[in-house]
Amino acid sequence: MACKLEIEPTGDIVEVQEGQTLLDAALRQGIYIPHACNQGLCGTCKVEVLEGEVNLGSASSFALMDSERDDGYCLACTATINDDVVIEADIEVDIDARTIPIKDIWGTVIKKEMLTPRILGLWIELDEKLDFQAGQYINYYVDGFNEPRAFSLANQPSTGKVIELNIGIIPDGELTPIIHKNTKINDRVKITGPFGRFFVKRSANKPMIFFAGGSGLSSPKSMILDELENGSKQSITLFHGARNEEELYYAEMFRNLEKQYDNFKYIPVLSNNENQFWSGEVGFTNDVAKKMYDGKFDGNKAYLCGPPMMTEACIKVLMQGRLFEKDIHTEKFFSKA
Ligand code: FES
Repeated sequence: MACKLEIEPTGDIVEVQEGQTLLDAALRQGIYIPHACNQGLCGTCKVEVLEGEVNLGSASSFALMDSERDDGYCLACTATINDDVVIEADIEVDIDARTIPIKDIWGTVIKKEMLTPRILGLWIELDEKLDFQAGQYINYYVDGFNEPRAFSLANQPSTGKVIELNIGIIPDGELTPIIHKNTKINDRVKITGPFGRFFVKRSANKPMIFFAGGSGLSSPKSMILDELENGSKQSITLFHGARNEEELYYAEMFRNLEKQYDNFKYIPVLSNNENQFWSGEVGFTNDVAKKMYDGKFDGNKAYLCGPPMMTEACIKVLMQGRLFEKDIHTEKFFSKA
């Protein structure tokens, strides 16, 4: 029997099925509760139970400490209920967020191609179109593994039923080597989504600076293509960091877009260049951006996606250049390798 979950301070009410987590029920009914790992590990989805009883599920002891359990907190991504419950969640209103309930969709792998020596491009034709905001991610299920893996969507929403994932291999990872090796054309796969609040804050109406590294190009690619297709007149700059030219993918596409759109600038940056004929930037994206913006970033919106070392270095340079937290956006999901 379904139970009723009331979420304060918004007063939203969702139905929770037996065994379903509070987070899953809320997201499937279009109600956002902050989350990141979906596995009881990070604590992002911590909520206070105001009325009723919850089963804490597999909440880890470091994401939900004993004192917090005693004080009536739970993790929405692991907690289930057997009776009606009222919780209080820390929900920030985001006027750029659309209400899109998450759902499970099956699809067929229609194309598989190495984009760089370590990044696999996977194209999946879904049985029904996935509604999402450019920049969001999905959970991807692999046969034999209970836990899905999160991947950003690299396509823009206008591509219909076909979605694109860019999957970087972590050689000693548990799942990415299996996806790289075993995925075949015509495989049937299941995804759930869309998740996340990493998307363009159009209401801010400010110039956009994107920083991407490795397979972190997925979200910026989706967001930039969506902005350009939708006629954005804002200045859009993409810094794409890669080790060398082999690792620099979609360069040709972005160079063509630069010719096509006056408001788009593409700046590839190689950290380990050995090609004497390379005429682009060399070094790290944060240093190149600092040089190009003369160290001043106020008045912009920055979107960062890539390895932690890159994003930390970029955030430092942006903040030194007077761009602060509310204007710096990073993808917050984390997933096992
Ligand atoms: Fe729930 Fe990470 S602990 S989302």
